Amino acid sequence: DKVVLAYSGGLDTSVAVKWINETYDLDVIAYTCDLGQGQDIQAIREKALRTGAVEAIAEDVRNLFVDFFAFPSLMAGALYEGKYPLATALGRPLIAQLMVRVAREHGAVAVAHGCTGKGNDQVRFDVTFQTLAPDLKIIAPVREWKWTRTQELEYAAQHGIEVEATKKSIFSTDQNLWGRSIEAGILEDPWVEPPAETFQWTVDPRTAPDEPEEVEITFDRGRPVALNGQELGGTELIEELNKIAGRHGVGRVDHIENRLVGIKSREIYEAPGALVLHEAHREIEFLTLSKEALRFKTLVSQAYSDLIYNGLWFSALHQDLMAFVVSNQQFVSGVARVKLFKGHAMIVGRKSEHSLYRHELATYEEGDQYDASAALGFIKIHGLSQTTQAKHQLLKSDG
Ligand code: ARG
Ligand code: SIN
Repeated sequence: DKVVLAYSGGLDTSVAVKWINETYDLDVIAYTCDLGQGQDIQAIREKALRTGAVEAIAEDVRNLFVDFFAFPSLMAGALYEGKYPLATALGRPLIAQLMVRVAREHGAVAVAHGCTGKGNDQVRFDVTFQTLAPDLKIIAPVREWKWTRTQELEYAAQHGIEVEATKKSIFSTDQNLWGRSIEAGILEDPWVEPPAETFQWTVDPRTAPDEPEEVEITFDRGRPVALNGQELGGTELIEELNKIAGRHGVGRVDHIENRLVGIKSREIYEAPGALVLHEAHREIEFLTLSKEALRFKTLVSQAYSDLIYNGLWFSALHQDLMAFVVSNQQFVSGVARVKLFKGHAMIVGRKSEHSLYRHELATYEEGDQYDASAALGFIKIHGLSQTTQAKHQLLKSDG
């Protein structure tokens, strides 16, 4: 029988290939996908075969990830606890969904992932598997073997598994187009400033260029469609923006976050492209959404980000929220100007054909169409409950 393993090429999942084989007597099909993490997935595929997988599949799914996961989350304004653009959390349901497809194609009886038993990722994988393919057995080697790192390295040595000792990371990381997540090691002390090695996509703002750089981002119904006036596919646009914002030190997040499993954890994120896009997108919303729609949208953004973080991507509630978001984004089209400078992304301009900012209403100059005489009656009615109270009840502030 066969099992499909989410294979990253790292130590845990390499050891898992052998361990699953020995423990469950299953043949391992290694599954690796390119979500824009910047790795050579063909090399990872070959490593899987050398490590003992009977088959290894590697595919580029960046466009799927952007169009169906990252951009919808942007339209929804999904930042977990107002800070984290959810890169890792958005990747998991897609990887799990693709693994189920591979399992079906190959008649596998199980699926496997390398998550620990303390994190959110195990929940996202397991819940997605249980939703899309309840008949498949789920194996989580790292959660099951409960080894220390030393024991794991011993097992690797005994079984001749390649360990890249040279670049053994001092952190636990995960990355894709939408961002990098870095945790553990010295970062577990929330008082300690992240050392320089934490960051790979963003420069220290001190060494960023002394001249600011401006970017123009064009949105069409909530989706980014052009950068500096040039139409780009989503994947290219994010890749480009990651580079531009990263070289100005923009996109670092230091977050004490609430995990689904009840733990607070300290995570560092680098998400230059995603964070600039969120800023720019929000700006077009300020211009094109009514005051009421903007206020209601914050509720939807929070519900949506919780749902993604908590691994409930394939829920009916997600579909309901998305229906709202698509409708709500109907007029969120336009261009935002963002100035990048030494760790900051500042909005300096915005325009839209559907702008609700009306010069003829806002101006103090010639051409004013606002009826100021109507303000008098409005103010009387607006303040009536408060002025009535002041007249008939002795308020504390009166002495
Ligand atoms: N805390 C983030 C999340 O739950 C990232 C998890 C993966 N991070 C990692 N360093 N392995 O989405
Ligand atoms: C893990 O524990 O596998 C990574 C961190 C997380 O899932 O939150």
